[in-house]
Amino acid sequence: MRIVRTVADVRAALEGGDEAGLVPTMGALHEGHASLLTTARAENEVVVASLFVNPAQFDEESDLAAYPRDEDADLDAFRRHGVDVVFAPAREEMYAPGFATWVEPAGAAVGLEGDARPGHFRGVATICLKLFNIVRPARAYFGRKDAQQVAVLKQLVRDLDLDVEIRVVDTVRDPDGLALSSRNALLTPEARETALAIPRALATHDAARAHAVLADAGVEPDYVAVADLDGPTLAIAARIGPIRLIDNVLLEGDPA
Ligand code: PAF
Repeated sequence: MRIVRTVADVRAALEGGDEAGLVPTMGALHEGHASLLTTARAENEVVVASLFVNPAQFDEESDLAAYPRDEDADLDAFRRHGVDVVFAPAREEMYAPGFATWVEPAGAAVGLEGDARPGHFRGVATICLKLFNIVRPARAYFGRKDAQQVAVLKQLVRDLDLDVEIRVVDTVRDPDGLALSSRNALLTPEARETALAIPRALATHDAARAHAVLADAGVEPDYVAVADLDGPTLAIAARIGPIRLIDNVLLEGDPA
């Protein structure tokens, strides 16, 4: 596995021109990422993973500062999953002094996370467009847990005629139902217990009933919403103490 830190080195590493699958990550890898990596490994000649905690998509400095980072553990995980090239740039490599061009997604980026986290999808769309341009992957892999992110990125690809297929991989859950997230590492055992109200609420497949389940557990959501996020989806965001979690379930197949 090659670890490269500059755009020039990524391009040199991929000179052979083999079809590449890209798994963009911010590190703090868990079984959800493992599932993206396994899928990418099965579908591509070359697997590239990126490891970059993108400051532009954090609307709160404290959230960026608290984001878990452990590069050695992440590199081990990439190695175990057969990644060929890891792109782990420094902040200045991605946002050089004078950086001033942004992707401003509307449409799928409006509402829900877009409202709760101003600038979040601008940061995500910009970094993903940069990564697509740097790596030129045939396919890029994202988890359905971030369903609105998937919708925004599919819209980006459509609107800007990008030559990359967005592949969406199902959410991985702990046996108790909690969706895997890098932020789960920040939950106390009590907070984690409370957080289980989120998958319980989603299992109702109904916004009103989901609200009731959350209220019972003393969880006040940022939102409980039915929206078209790459398919009809019931989505929840809630703060458990200081940690904000999101999760969703596809409603496809539900009786109308
Ligand atoms: O889903 C994530 O971890 C991030 O939003 C992504 C796609 C790696 C962009 O920084």
